[in-house]
Amino acid sequence: MPISFDSKSMQFQLDTDHTSYVMKAEDGYLLHLYYGARLNAGDHSYFHRETGRAAFSPRMENCEGLTLDDTPLEYPCWGRGDLRSPALEIVNADGSDIVDLNYVNHTVFDGKPMPDGLPATYCEEGDRVQTLAVTLADAVSGVKVTLYYTVFADYDVITRRAEITAGSSGCRIMKAASACVDMPSDEIEIISNHGTHCRERQTERFPLPHGEYRISSRRGASGHVHNPYMLLVSPDADETSGECLAAVLVYSGNFSAEVCGTQFDTTRMVIGINPDGFSWQCAPGETFSTPEAVLTYSDTGLETVSHRLHRLFTHRLCRGKYRDCRRPVLLNSWEACYFGFDSDRLVKIGECSAELGIELMVIDDGWFGRRNSDNCSLGDWTVNRDKLPGGLEGVYAPLKKKGIGLGIWFEPEMVSPDSDLYRAHPDWCLHIDGRPRSEGRHQLILDLSNPDVTDYIYDSLSAVLETGMISYVKWDFNRNMTEVGSDTNPGKSQGEITHRYYLGLYSLLERLTSSFPDVLFESCSGGGGRFDAGLLYYMPQVWTSDNSDAIERLEIQYGTSLVYPLSSMSAHVSASPNHQTGHVTPFMTRFTAAFTGSFGYELDPTALSEEDRERVRATVALYKKYGGIFADGSYYRLGGPRGKDYAAWCTVSEDGKVCIVGYVLTKVRMNRSVRRIKLRGLVPDARYRDTLSGEEYTGSELMGFGVYAPETLEYSSHMWIFERI
Ligand code: GLA
Repeated sequence: MPISFDSKSMQFQLDTDHTSYVMKAEDGYLLHLYYGARLNAGDHSYFHRETGRAAFSPRMENCEGLTLDDTPLEYPCWGRGDLRSPALEIVNADGSDIVDLNYVNHTVFDGKPMPDGLPATYCEEGDRVQTLAVTLADAVSGVKVTLYYTVFADYDVITRRAEITAGSSGCRIMKAASACVDMPSDEIEIISNHGTHCRERQTERFPLPHGEYRISSRRGASGHVHNPYMLLVSPDADETSGECLAAVLVYSGNFSAEVCGTQFDTTRMVIGINPDGFSWQCAPGETFSTPEAVLTYSDTGLETVSHRLHRLFTHRLCRGKYRDCRRPVLLNSWEACYFGFDSDRLVKIGECSAELGIELMVIDDGWFGRRNSDNCSLGDWTVNRDKLPGGLEGVYAPLKKKGIGLGIWFEPEMVSPDSDLYRAHPDWCLHIDGRPRSEGRHQLILDLSNPDVTDYIYDSLSAVLETGMISYVKWDFNRNMTEVGSDTNPGKSQGEITHRYYLGLYSLLERLTSSFPDVLFESCSGGGGRFDAGLLYYMPQVWTSDNSDAIERLEIQYGTSLVYPLSSMSAHVSASPNHQTGHVTPFMTRFTAAFTGSFGYELDPTALSEEDRERVRATVALYKKYGGIFADGSYYRLGGPRGKDYAAWCTVSEDGKVCIVGYVLTKVRMNRSVRRIKLRGLVPDARYRDTLSGEEYTGSELMGFGVYAPETLEYSSHMWIFERI
């Protein structure tokens, strides 16, 4: 059984195949004892050493009990003996802001209850999944907290979340984390992603400082700037060795992930909704649910952490028809023609794409209202007949004849002040009366906490999708939130309205995705400004970045791959010179970089040379043959790009029969030693054939010695496809 409880020692042990998580109720408190490599069953009480050191912090029970300030706790609270950063902060009805949680009882059951209205990982028939629900309570205020721990034994993952229920006088929640993990040492390094628009998820690594280090978002979206996860590693950790602990939040709004090096050289990690600007009023007996945090631990390096998260997110977070299979190869119109298209041009692009084997043409921004630039019409989701006189049908019908499907772009959460929607409902956007409404990209954000607004969006999108012509939706979100006020929630904090907005968005997405199960939804926010596990529950892929430059993408895709699976990353071959950076790169380098996820093209195929068109044909055929590998394969980061003059990686299919290796030379250094790329994930005794050269190797050769990288020019690349014989 993954979860065991010993009533004598009051110890809980949660076991996955390779990890154990141990806690214990002592003196009323729920203590954290261990999260690490798998343990045998037994009483591990000695893991908790009561140091007795107070260092100006109080000791409970008149100096006889625990020193909470130096005790590893599962859900620490503000206001009593623990003076570190708390998981829970509450203002009681009498204005006092103290809460002191004591163990009450617990239950263990098979399976996993889903949180109400929030995205979360799920289990399926046959999974070894069990859940522990521990109830804690504050004796004075009656506040009750239930901590949920779900053990995915086969996936080596534990998920956590909390439900907070007010006592008989009600309370105001100021901070409610999803998870807290206390660690006994501070010999830890932090790995995190930072970035901005067109430069998302750059990877940083540095030692844990004393004090509090926090990444967060107050942007009304998980954001381009940081990503909602915390990755802590031992100083010796690399891809294949060392200890790593990851906590990923399944949420798309304001988040906070903090880590503190304490005065006693221990570490606390807290992750959840960002408490900045957040408060949530709970009426007597009312319950607030936090989003879910996904935890995994490995003592075999970063690669194991990524593999576990990729597997879980692919198979037990993403849903729907496209969950486990190759995604259609598409051509997106944005970098092909931006706003400058009409039916004739789209049909030409689509017909040309069809001839090259492409399966789907996506009409990006500009097909609706009077939209010829980004300054109007968001919210008016009816076809612009000046541009498309035959409506969508006029594009769909000729393409259908050629066997190519149609996708379409929406930015459903937004409204342009210059739109019929805004003129009819000026108060449907987020705003605070008496204050200016700040525009970003000439647009305001609709108030998705208002059910009339979500009904309007549902109806407008349904009207287009019900025609049956659309098989793919790109769902964009192109600004961050300010003046977060809502006519439906007067007087509420901006943080509460943001959370209510996300509850509205999630329920809208649930309705739409279940009404149109055959449509593939891709999320986008100026590229990867909302690349988070919350949205993956509804939309299994994300436009990774508005930067489509092959060289820049190497770093972005590297950072993204730490947590998110390849199938979730949309990667397209775009034109050269690249529209964002001006880099001139060979076609095959652009292909090699893009052949690592949900694959497509972001260029005008009618403008290509016959030679390049032949290349598109050949690469589309390769994707059709091998693209399933990005849905079920394991990804290995073999070297670079961070701090190196190259990047190399490989993906091995689930059945072990195919291994695709990518290599890009990002900077030439003359006359250096000839580089070898050592592969991983192969069977040492098996034989593999290089499908291009016909050469054969054993797995041990490919992993032990490697393959020689060709010595070529800057920005050149090579791709090997090995098949097991
Ligand atoms: C965002 C997206 C782009 C494109 C434009 C259209 O920036 O990330 O891919 O769809 O919007 O306006």
